[in-house]
This record gives sequence, C-alpha cells and structure tokens, in this order.
Amino acid sequence: MRITILGGGGFLGRKLAQRLARDGALGGDPVEALTLFDLAPPATPEGAAFPVRCLSGDVADPAALAAAIPVGTTHVFHLAAVVSAQAEADLDLGLRVNLHGTLAVMQACRALERPPRVVFTSSVASFSGGQEAVLPDDARQLPANSYGAQKAMGELLLQDASRRGILDVVSIRLPTVVIRPGRPNRAASSFVSAILREPLLGLPTELPVGEDFALWICSPRRAVEWFLHAATMDTAALGLDRGINPPGRSATVALMLNALEAVAGPAARALVRPAPDPAVAAIVSGWPAAFTAERARRLLGFSEQESLEELIEAFIAEDLEETRRERGL
Ligand SMILES: NC(=O)c1ccc[n+]([C@@H]2O[C@H](COP(=O)([O-])OP(=O)(O)OC[C@H]3O[C@@H](n4cnc5c(N)ncnc54)[C@H](O)[C@@H]3O)[C@@H](O)[C@H]2O)c1
Repeated sequence: MRITILGGGGFLGRKLAQRLARDGALGGDPVEALTLFDLAPPATPEGAAFPVRCLSGDVADPAALAAAIPVGTTHVFHLAAVVSAQAEADLDLGLRVNLHGTLAVMQACRALERPPRVVFTSSVASFSGGQEAVLPDDARQLPANSYGAQKAMGELLLQDASRRGILDVVSIRLPTVVIRPGRPNRAASSFVSAILREPLLGLPTELPVGEDFALWICSPRRAVEWFLHAATMDTAALGLDRGINPPGRSATVALMLNALEAVAGPAARALVRPAPDPAVAAIVSGWPAAFTAERARRLLGFSEQESLEELIEAFIAEDLEETRRERGL
C-alpha cells in the first residue's frame, strides 16, 4: 500500500496519519510508504514503521501533485479543502482549492499505471433542507452555499473519473465532526465543537443558535474508521453512485450540553452563553439535521456513531492535553 493524504496536516488528515502509523497496515496489507501533503509540511506521525514523506504545496498545482501522488500510489485520501465560511467569504479561493484542486487530483491519478482508490471528503453542506429534513439516500444535492456546491462538483467529477477507470472513488459526505481540537476555525460550524471543547478547557464560549438547534454530527474517531472502510471496501457494490451518506447522529445542542454536563459537571455547561449570530445561523440552518443513511449502514458496512458521552470522553483521552499545550493553557 502506497498512500497519499492530501490535507495531511489538517485535523482529520493528522488523525488518519496517526492511525496508519499505529496500525502499520491498511485492510490487512502493510503500508509501504506514506506521503503527507499540505500547504505547510505536515509533521511525521509518531511510531511509523514505514517511510513518510512530508511535502508542502498547493493542491491546485499540477507539478506539486505529481510529486505528492507518485507512480505506484495505491490510495489517495483527498482531504485538502478550504472550509465552509472561508469558501463563502472568498469565492475565488474556494473555487481554486475545492474545485480546481479536485480536478488536479483527478489529472494526477491519470498519470498512474493503475487507478488508485480515492477517498474524497465531501460534506453534509452539499445538501440543504434545514432543521425539518430527514434526507433519504437518494436525496438531491442542492447546496445553499459555495463550499457545498464545490464539494458536490468534486463528487461528480470523481464519479465520472471512476466510470472511466481513471481512479476508483468513494466520496464520504461527512457530518460536522466534533470535537475539533485546537482553536476555533473558520468553519460556520466551529461553534459546535467550541461549546464542548472550550468548557472542557475551563473557558467560556458563545452559542450562536438556540439549544433546540439540531445537527448531523460524527466523531473524529468515527470519521477515520469510515475513511479506512472506504479505502478497503469492494466498490462493485456502489455501481455508478459513489457518494455515501454515512451513519452519523442527529443531535440538538441541548443533547450535546446534557452529555457535557454528564461527563464534566454543571460548571462546564454554565460556561456556554447564548449569543445569537444571524450570519452563522443563516449558513448552518440550511444544512439538514438528519439522514436515514440506510445504504451505508445496511448495505455497505459503515460503522455506527458512538454516544455523545463516549465522543466527549474520547476527546478528553486523546486531544485535551495536546489542545492545552497548543494554546498555551
Ligand atoms: N471537520 C468537519 O466537520 C468536516 C465536515 C464535512 C467535511 N469535511 C471535509 O473533510 C476534510 C478534512 O476536514 P478537516 O476538518 O481536517 O479540515 P482542515 O481545515 O483541518 O484540513 C484541511 C487541510 O487542507 C489544507 N489545505 C487548504 N488549502 C490547501 C491547498 N491549496 N493545498 C493544499 N492543502 C490545502 C489545509 O491547510 C488543512 O490542513 C475537508 O475536505 C473538509 O472539507 C470536514
């Protein structure tokens, strides 16, 4: 297995690289080489028993991608992206990274002697429907923001490239992944992690939506499990339809705060203060709060999301100390 992670220095890219380093294998076959690619050279994951190249470059630059996806590559995890609020604020940047970057990934795969498995991280933001929606597997993607539109375009591009035998894609429409370690970022959904992470750090935080607001979420641990499954599953079962709605969990803010209180006590919950923000609400209220995810669950073997309490406990065990260190707390 010769693997490349584009966006390998990001939140999920780092988690995936750490997991590969720990396992030393993908689907039972040993990892022979790993390339991590990002705007800045990503850190080498600890304990990797195989060679790791850490490259910097722009995903939309064909020469940089040719180096990141060398001949012999068997798997590409394409996670490099400009996130939702940033892509909405800067259309040119979003188009260059999220659309032209994905086009460049396809072109780089054309140069390989065998079609690699590509795992593409699409998003729940490629759908609309809002709070009342429970989307079935054949729901149309009608994005209400440029980021979601760019993700949907990327899916279609890679789906056609799969049909042509250039590559073999599985596109995972990720729910909002919580708890994101580190600092708040420019995703419109940043508050969803912040309302759990900041109180666990002992810091106050603001809630821009009401407590009855519901979201489709998953944990980073579950996202990585899905990436590994997508990398090794038999894609014959997918046919032309390469987009997967994985089995996340629909949770209201109130349920998340109840879980926070159960794990960390009422003082932690009290650090979350209401501060309505119509700009954030306008973006996130278009995202559907629930999916049936029947195909992923029953036909394709994607694993189920753990409970909210387990999700918070996993953050405390795996990410809290590093987040404290990173932020000088
Ligand atoms: N985290 C979530 O809640 C979530 C939800 C839905 C979809 N996704 C998707 O999953 C993927 C990973 O998400 P994440 O949370 O790890 O995001 P992230 O922002 O932490 O990581 C993305 C990485 O892409 C890199 N990148 C940006 N522009 C680049 C460029 N021009 N060239 C090379 N690299 C570039 C960034 O530097 C960053 O390290 C992304 O594609 C994201 O759109 C994430």
